[in-house]
Amino acid sequence: MVVFLSGELGAGKTTLARGILRGLGHTGRIKSPSFTLVEVYKLSRLYLYHFDFYRFNNPMELEDAGFREIFDGEAVCLVEWPEKAGAALPAADLKISIRAAGTGRRVEVIAATEAGKACLRHIPR
Ligand SMILES: Nc1ncnc2c1ncn2[C@@H]1O[C@H](COP(=O)(O)OP(=O)(O)O)[C@@H](O)[C@H]1O
Ligand SMILES: [Mg+2]
Repeated sequence: MVVFLSGELGAGKTTLARGILRGLGHTGRIKSPSFTLVEVYKLSRLYLYHFDFYRFNNPMELEDAGFREIFDGEAVCLVEWPEKAGAALPAADLKISIRAAGTGRRVEVIAATEAGKACLRHIPR
């Protein structure tokens, strides 16, 4: 499962990722991966990778860093700044865009695959 989180700096991407992790039962610390590029969480049998490609300059680094194998595996991948990783990233199942709306946020969710659509059906609206 690949989930893109888009929106400008401060839009709330990391905050949403934290909410997803909390919702999945993670009770420990949740660091922003803005310096480390990736943080990994093991939630029961599920591996969740939280990426932030803001500081990524060369999309070729994606291969070099061995991230490709993570995306091709069974894990859930939340990706901040997917546009910085370029064409090296696989297609998203869900594309989430966030923007400020008053003191809150407006979120648009697009399901791009069957897996994404199945996921969207579980989001209360
Ligand atoms: N849904 C929200 N409603 C109100 N404030 C929010 C919301 N999401 C994030 N924020 C606030 O916006 C700021 C930036 O959030 P952050 O998640 O770090 O943004 P990003 O990762 O997109 O740069 C934080 O101070 C956070 O508390
Ligand atoms: Mg962030």
